[in-house]
Amino acid sequence: MAEPFFVVEHSALESFARQLLEGAGVAPHRAALVASNLIFGNLRGVDSHGMQLLPYYVEQLSSGLIDGAQDGAPIRESGGTLHYNAANGLGAVTSAICCDHAIRLARSHGIAFVVARDANHFGAAAYWGRRISAAGLIGFAFCNASPIVPPFQAREPRLGTNPICMSVPGPEETSWLLDMATTTVAANRIFKAYHNKQEEIPTGWAMDKEGRPTTNTNEAFHGLVMPLGGYKGTGLAVMVEILCAILGGGAMSTEVGGLRVKDRPMGVSHSFMAIDPARFAGAEEFGERMDKLTNYLHSAAPGSGYDEVLVAGEPESRFEKERRETGIPLGPGEWQRLVDWATKFKVSLPVSIRKAM
Ligand SMILES: NC(=O)c1ccc[n+]([C@@H]2O[C@H](COP(=O)([O-])OP(=O)(O)OC[C@H]3O[C@@H](n4cnc5c(N)ncnc54)[C@H](O)[C@@H]3O)[C@@H](O)[C@H]2O)c1
Repeated sequence: MAEPFFVVEHSALESFARQLLEGAGVAPHRAALVASNLIFGNLRGVDSHGMQLLPYYVEQLSSGLIDGAQDGAPIRESGGTLHYNAANGLGAVTSAICCDHAIRLARSHGIAFVVARDANHFGAAAYWGRRISAAGLIGFAFCNASPIVPPFQAREPRLGTNPICMSVPGPEETSWLLDMATTTVAANRIFKAYHNKQEEIPTGWAMDKEGRPTTNTNEAFHGLVMPLGGYKGTGLAVMVEILCAILGGGAMSTEVGGLRVKDRPMGVSHSFMAIDPARFAGAEEFGERMDKLTNYLHSAAPGSGYDEVLVAGEPESRFEKERRETGIPLGPGEWQRLVDWATKFKVSLPVSIRKAM
């Protein structure tokens, strides 16, 4: 029988997240940003990057590993580029500031690239790609992450799950939005399975400590995350490492903290790019041509076992439509970790609208 889970209405869960962050000493405006970033993940079915991250953030805030009062500051601005010191502030807080700089600079220069060093976890990269595309620009977001991924042919970790995101302007529900780890799946999907006591994960997600492929969740949790498509995933992860840590001068590879290294701040780097379509074939033409391409992709005959062809962002948009109506499910392990922190900070739990099996 499947484990029971709780379902909470999204705005009640967002308000709970805000209160828990405020309980950890975060100012309301910063707490609101982090909570919105987490609920975005859950609403879009990206539960790996939703509320299950909150206990981790709160633990880091409480132990002083994240400075919840920091906004960071620019190091240098030149043309369409900005180098930013995130000063160990909350990832969502400094990312919002950096995205807004990218939007401002791209409006002036046509293209902007912002790199932040000494940053923390920024949740789902799509939240940041979309913040830029909502301003009518093509938005990109990248970050390096905790080293739990071996390079292809290795069994020792050297890289993170280093996500890549590109989001195009247009209606939120239908616009192409690619947001992917450079591993088969984001590590937090494995952690979620572990916290919710799910015994097996699909083939191809992870390896044990010795670099042997495994479907055992416990072995995977203590083991290694599989690069996406072998050496191609490793190449993409290194590309992200270059665009973030190497370019920004921040921690790279095993210098990055977090997850398994809890004696120093995470110290990841983020990069954000914005491109103004108006500087090329034109903003209107860009939208029309995107629609044409998307329709053409949809029109391809489905392969065996499938009844439709989707484009990036579509599965998550469908989740969002549904979960705005039906609420956000939380696994038993996730729920218990939230209950523990809520009890500590004397924050009322959100009402579960349903307990399902
Ligand atoms: N902050 C961090 O350190 C960090 C690190 C790694 C990953 N992440 C986040 O983890 C999340 C999950 O990443 P993931 O790689 O597991 O995602 P995923 O594998 O579920 O999806 C990857 C992409 O594929 C698209 N997609 C899925 N099914 C599709 C289909 N049938 N047809 C066409 N496109 C389809 C999705 O829309 C998405 O854009 C992302 O939000 C990512 O930003 C964050």
